[in-house]
Amino acid sequence: MKILLLIFLTSLIQNSSQVCRVRRPRPHIIVIMGDDMGHNDIGLRTNQIPTPNIDALGYNGVVLDRYYVQNACTPSRAAFLTGNYPIRSAMQGLPIVAGENRSLPLNMPLMPQHLKNLGYRTHIVGKWHLGSAYRSSTPTEKGFDSHFGYWNGFTGYYDYFTDFNSTAIEGFDLHDRFETERGYQGQYATRVFTERALDIIEGHNTTRPLFLLMTHLAAHAGRDGTELGVPNEVEAQRTYSYIQDPRRRLYAEIVAELDRSIGQVVRKLSERQMLENSIILFFSDNGAPTVGPYTNSGSNWPLRGIKLTNFEGGIRGTATIFSPLLKKRGYVNKELIHVSDWLPTFYAAAGGNLADLGPIDGVNQWPTLSLDTPSPRSEILVNINEQDNTTSIITDNGRFKLVTGAFEGGTYDGYFGDSGRSPDTPPYDPFAVLQSETNIAIQELTQTPITRQQIRVTRAQIDLSWCRNDSFRPPLNCSQPCLFDLENDPCETTNIIEENPEIAERLLRRIADFFEVLVPQGDSTIDPNANPQRYNNTWCTWLDDDWCVKTPNNTRLF
Ligand SMILES: *[C@@H]1O[C@H](CO)[C@@H](O)[C@H](O)[C@H]1NC(C)=O
Ligand SMILES: *[C@@H]1O[C@H](CO)[C@@H](O)[C@H](O)[C@H]1NC(C)=O
Ligand SMILES: *[C@@H]1O[C@H](CO)[C@@H](O)[C@H](O)[C@H]1NC(C)=O
Ligand SMILES: *[C@@H]1O[C@H](CO)[C@@H](O)[C@H](O)[C@H]1NC(C)=O
Ligand SMILES: *[C@@H]1O[C@H](CO)[C@@H](O)[C@H](O)[C@H]1NC(C)=O
Ligand SMILES: *[C@@H]1O[C@H](CO)[C@@H](O)[C@H](O)[C@H]1NC(C)=O
Ligand SMILES: *[C@@H]1O[C@H](CO)[C@@H](O)[C@H](O)[C@H]1NC(C)=O
Ligand SMILES: *[C@@H]1O[C@H](CO)[C@@H](O)[C@H](O)[C@H]1NC(C)=O
Repeated sequence: MKILLLIFLTSLIQNSSQVCRVRRPRPHIIVIMGDDMGHNDIGLRTNQIPTPNIDALGYNGVVLDRYYVQNACTPSRAAFLTGNYPIRSAMQGLPIVAGENRSLPLNMPLMPQHLKNLGYRTHIVGKWHLGSAYRSSTPTEKGFDSHFGYWNGFTGYYDYFTDFNSTAIEGFDLHDRFETERGYQGQYATRVFTERALDIIEGHNTTRPLFLLMTHLAAHAGRDGTELGVPNEVEAQRTYSYIQDPRRRLYAEIVAELDRSIGQVVRKLSERQMLENSIILFFSDNGAPTVGPYTNSGSNWPLRGIKLTNFEGGIRGTATIFSPLLKKRGYVNKELIHVSDWLPTFYAAAGGNLADLGPIDGVNQWPTLSLDTPSPRSEILVNINEQDNTTSIITDNGRFKLVTGAFEGGTYDGYFGDSGRSPDTPPYDPFAVLQSETNIAIQELTQTPITRQQIRVTRAQIDLSWCRNDSFRPPLNCSQPCLFDLENDPCETTNIIEENPEIAERLLRRIADFFEVLVPQGDSTIDPNANPQRYNNTWCTWLDDDWCVKTPNNTRLF
């Protein structure tokens, strides 16, 4: 009898260990990137802008509280796709302007290339912004099976025109791989991109893992850098009449449209039974440009600075992530996470061997997110821009931050943006979250309802309104280095360098270490040959243009 029992138990153990060894199919990875959305521009932080779907990802998954991105589009996307600080890909400077020949280094493999090695199908829908002077710098030559979208930094919400050198000369920029796609003109970009994403999910053969990157135009300023395109302007003005700035009302609707898109994507994943094995990440590439060029009236309140500055308003990102594969869910993660970490994080979650990625700056945060264990990362090189002499680093597990130099003489280093706390603002609507497509689809799967109490606690845990001391705001000039204690002063109100010279010394030395490995930025001159007037008023890969449609007799029309 005992022997029989032993045999039985042994076989049970063997069976179960066998079960463990059977590899789970690799998870689908869906990343939705907003453009120029500020810290104070999602429902989790402000009652002004309803984002029930983005919020639902967080309440059912994880809300990231100490998530850092780069201060602008091109460097952030470079860090995301390469798993490296932008100083290694020469992308640490200003975003690529349409007509520049800069691009990612050809020898640096990107996230889609790594994921393809694990069997993924890889798609990008929306913006590229990592170079398009040559065919070889565009997405489908860099590991993506398909790209539907635009190559430059922004485009028109309805007409898909992008201007050349800030002039009235414009080029059409909506492509399906290398085909020009004029058929969508007059249709709203967020919806067009969403339709394409839904088609990709619908057509995906689920025996293979999917990597879908949606890089939205929303909420960047559109055509000529000022358009805030919404489907119905009158309605937007009415819906958000409690917001003072009429442009911010349009901005709110742009964000709300983006949020609806996320609901549709999650529902489609659910319909195709892919949600149960998906990782869905939302984040904004950088802080909002509240004022200045390309302003969209987004807000990083209460943080200091805006897009293109190294202050928290430029780099402390918004992000929520949901996956049923996360062991701990429904909480706020306060660990230090950087945009370069997603490559190793996804690669590990997909069962890949991290050694395949070679030496990179990013670290695997999957256990950090799934188990809420301490981040393996104790510091973030915020950036070194050797051209405008600005640097910044965060160290000591997120406690101290050094900032040197100022972008544009410090014009954007102050406090900007709507607090969203005017008494006219309606209260947060938990019901909208519960009723969102995202929440309904996820609840069907997890059967773990989110509660009003949880919503309250989550929002309180990420609330930073306490950090802004308006009665005490000493003038700040970081042309000489500034040091901040982010734990006690996330609003960077007080430079503590005089009291802490040895800490500053240590951080300056770290920056000097990184300076050693910095790859200098390339020339950012706009090439007159890029002029879309030469290519039938369309953006084309002008330094590699055999295939481009040329304006009759290729004359320059200007
Ligand atoms: C999906 O892929 C599998 C394996 O590659 C193949 O056998 C199957 O026919 C494909 N299904 C469809 C609908 O194409
Ligand atoms: C703001 O700073 C001043 C000066 O340091 C201090 O006296 C005051 O208590 C602070 N207020 C708050 C709300 O922290
Ligand atoms: C900051 O200080 C430097 C000199 O240290 C000066 O050249 C610059 O004008 C100052 N900037 C502002 C905004 O006061
Ligand atoms: C660059 O910044 C450092 C630190 O703030 C300063 O000492 C140095 O003079 C600056 N160099 C230039 C060329 O502006
Ligand atoms: C890129 O543009 C710069 C500035 O116009 C020029 O000096 C450089 O030769 C160009 N590089 C290539 C590879 O075309
Ligand atoms: C871009 O505009 C600037 C300023 O108007 C001008 O100096 C420059 O020559 C232009 N570049 C091209 C390539 O058109
Ligand atoms: C050139 O652009 C026009 C739209 O402006 C389009 O109708 C036409 O088909 C394009 N020509 C070619 C050869 O693609
Ligand atoms: C070629 O360009 C010239 C302008 O330089 C123009 O007058 C002529 O009509 C063009 N020819 C054709 C065939 O488009």
